[in-house]
Amino acid sequence: MSRPPHEPVVDYFRTAILWIGRTCLGRNRLLPLDHVLRVRHRLKCMFHGEDLLVPLNLVFSSHRFHGRVPALVHLLRDVPLGTWAVDQCGVELIWQRLDKARPRVICEFGSGATTLVFARWLKHAGIPHGVCISIDQSADEASNTRLRLESAGLSAFASVHHVPVDADTRFAFDAPHLAALFEGRPIDFVFVDGPAGASGCRLSTLPMLEGWLAERGVWMLHDALRDGELEVVQAWTANRRFALDGIYATGTGLAIGNWCK
Ligand SMILES: C[S@@+](CC[C@H](N)C(=O)[O-])C[C@H]1O[C@@H](n2cnc3c(N)ncnc32)[C@H](O)[C@@H]1O
Repeated sequence: MSRPPHEPVVDYFRTAILWIGRTCLGRNRLLPLDHVLRVRHRLKCMFHGEDLLVPLNLVFSSHRFHGRVPALVHLLRDVPLGTWAVDQCGVELIWQRLDKARPRVICEFGSGATTLVFARWLKHAGIPHGVCISIDQSADEASNTRLRLESAGLSAFASVHHVPVDADTRFAFDAPHLAALFEGRPIDFVFVDGPAGASGCRLSTLPMLEGWLAERGVWMLHDALRDGELEVVQAWTANRRFALDGIYATGTGLAIGNWCK
């Protein structure tokens, strides 16, 4: 269906408002959930539609990484960022968080540029037996990521597994399947950027790892400024099992939180 002719202009106007807001606030600042929800509520008084907190991607997409992490500049030299993948600033924030948390076992939902980032960080940090276990709904994307890891000499630090999604675009796992993936290695960092599908389809990702999580750890959720992911954040943090540190207003949003058993 073609979009009404006035809609792109409205989107540009909304994007300009969001861009000014982000510039004033700073993309490196963690925003509390209630602040984010208040801004969305205000935007709803002016605009119609979904995902009003997500600007047009022209403000955050790029053809390669040219940020402040030297180890990634060559690795991500021809990797598009900020469309399907995390944006430049998001990559830097993930790297900073890895430096702070120093995880040994990273579980990622949705492979791609981020898998390269996790593998490169594990190599850089020299964590003994450090590994990223990445789960992808698409056999083709999983295979592409494996090839990229291989050509970068990073295969020892990450493995990519194809796991299909069900009719509701949720990962179709069972306990023995998960047990086989993690082989008794407690997960201390979870990055959720998949599956791609129906709104809210990422809800089951972090809770399904419950039995495999370390005593404490860090979780991150990409696309956190979309309506579906904001609901996911609220559901995860509702029972205080998982805590939210805040949301970075960069790209499509990056939420970060932690757990402590
Ligand atoms: C948001 S993407 C994951 C991106 C990854 N975390 C990154 O930052 O590069 C989530 C899933 O969408 C699927 N997908 C479907 N179409 C895609 C496309 N054109 N490019 C990349 N991923 C795509 C892939 O299976 C992927 O696992």
